[in-house]
Amino acid sequence: MNIRRAEAKDLLNILRCNLHNLPENYPMRFWTYSTLTWPEISFLAEDDDRKVVGYVLCSIEREEKFPYQWVGHINSLSVLRPYRRMGLARQLMDMAKDAMIRGTTVIEYIQLHVRKSNRAALSLYRDKLGYEHHRLETKYYGDGEDAYSMRLPVTHMKHPQTWVAVIYYHVTHNTRQLARRTVSRLRRRKLVL
Ligand SMILES: CC(C)(COP(=O)(O)OP(=O)(O)OC[C@H]1O[C@@H](n2cnc3c(N)ncnc32)[C@H](O)[C@@H]1OP(=O)(O)O)[C@@H](O)C(=O)NCCC(=O)NCCS
Repeated sequence: MNIRRAEAKDLLNILRCNLHNLPENYPMRFWTYSTLTWPEISFLAEDDDRKVVGYVLCSIEREEKFPYQWVGHINSLSVLRPYRRMGLARQLMDMAKDAMIRGTTVIEYIQLHVRKSNRAALSLYRDKLGYEHHRLETKYYGDGEDAYSMRLPVTHMKHPQTWVAVIYYHVTHNTRQLARRTVSRLRRRKLVL
């Protein structure tokens, strides 16, 4: 068994593995986007015949509420049935986490969604990998099933780059607000158009 980084050329084989395992299948352009934009954080496991038997596909996106922060996303994880319970998913997830933490983009946490009924994945994320329940998202999946949104806090998040970004955001945000208020005051006094 060989575990290595997933590349754009592996996508068709990854897709084959995904179709076997999961009802959620992203469009090809999404897979291509993530592997080309973040080539160092997605991984696959292949057998001796180079058949893809498991993969984890990740990306890094802006935080919803705080767009100056970044968040790692586990977009899809699966292992073919005959290769399960051999520790492959755990290894893939660990490698993805390490790569996201080592990368140049400072992330605050790693996020994923899991079906409420997926006991195997829940046990993996919560009991083995330390992910914490964040919130329940009702009818998250196309078939109406709810999802747990889970997060893994990343310990090195107090990186100085993050603080520079936070200060920069607040300074520019406050300056923009002040400028807007001044202009509307001047408008009210009919000093500017
Ligand atoms: C979930 C999945 C990725 C796990 O892959 P795996 O390679 O078998 O997982 P691992 O061997 O690394 O198992 C690690 C831990 O996960 C948990 N786990 C895995 N399979 C489990 C099962 N069938 N029942 C309960 N717990 C299970 C256990 O805690 C296990 O640790 P243990 O073996 O020490 O008990 C795999 O079952 C799969 O591909 N399922 C279908 C796709 C899917 O659900 N993906 C996740 C979408 S969010």
